[in-house]
Amino acid sequence: MESITVEQVASLYQKYQDDLRAVRDSQRQFLRDRGKTMKAQLDDYEAEMTYLLLRDLRPEVVVEIGTFYGWSTMWILSALRDNGIGHLYSFDIVDNVVRNVPEELSADRWTFTKGDVKQHLEKVPTEKTDYLFIDADHGARFAHWYIDNLFPAVPSGTPTSVHDVFHGRRPKPFSEGSVVMKWLAEKNVEFLTPSTAKAPEVTKQLAAVKADLGLSEPVRESDHNPMIFFHLP
Ligand SMILES: C[S@@+](CC[C@H](N)C(=O)[O-])C[C@H]1O[C@@H](n2cnc3c(N)ncnc32)[C@H](O)[C@@H]1O
Repeated sequence: MESITVEQVASLYQKYQDDLRAVRDSQRQFLRDRGKTMKAQLDDYEAEMTYLLLRDLRPEVVVEIGTFYGWSTMWILSALRDNGIGHLYSFDIVDNVVRNVPEELSADRWTFTKGDVKQHLEKVPTEKTDYLFIDADHGARFAHWYIDNLFPAVPSGTPTSVHDVFHGRRPKPFSEGSVVMKWLAEKNVEFLTPSTAKAPEVTKQLAAVKADLGLSEPVRESDHNPMIFFHLP
């Protein structure tokens, strides 16, 4: 299985730089307008990589588990809007996201289900999933749940990202990250992370690409980027 590489991401920054610039500007403006009432989680690398990979893939069906206030939701929906194709199915126990996502983005391309995704597996369009995004419960049990119940139902090869893995050089013991990393190693699956703590050379390379393209001004001030990207085996 081909892995997602930093070179691929760098070339996508080049290819989609104009659209990305527009999304970055509108996301930055959204944060300014909302101030502290908007709690955003993904950092710029994580959000931009998600946007760029979605632009490249042009998926019909995206599944997002863990929306919180909708920061990742807005980035994903921006990619689907710019692709002119695709539907996002989002899941969260809390529904703050519903009040946050602008109508222009949600339009007819978004379905939100409120509740514990473990109790709503039948609402996840598993077999049709083209891209899977997970940023939810960061405990080991939840990771075991999706490895045992969700991953086997999603097509092999599906690009997938999981947040909160590399807060440091290694995942925290007994965390979601440690369970996922062990599983990826067992399955021989390579991953890419923009985590500055784990892979500072990746962050450095992408920062240089962004600087060349005039994309250095932060959207949100954060260098916390523990997400991993891989293809499901
Ligand atoms: C870190 S936040 C998501 C942040 C969001 N992706 C962003 O970019 O701002 C994690 C979210 O996962 C949700 N969550 C936790 N366990 C869940 C479960 N079992 N089913 C659905 N959502 C869950 C929480 O309610 C919380 O809103």
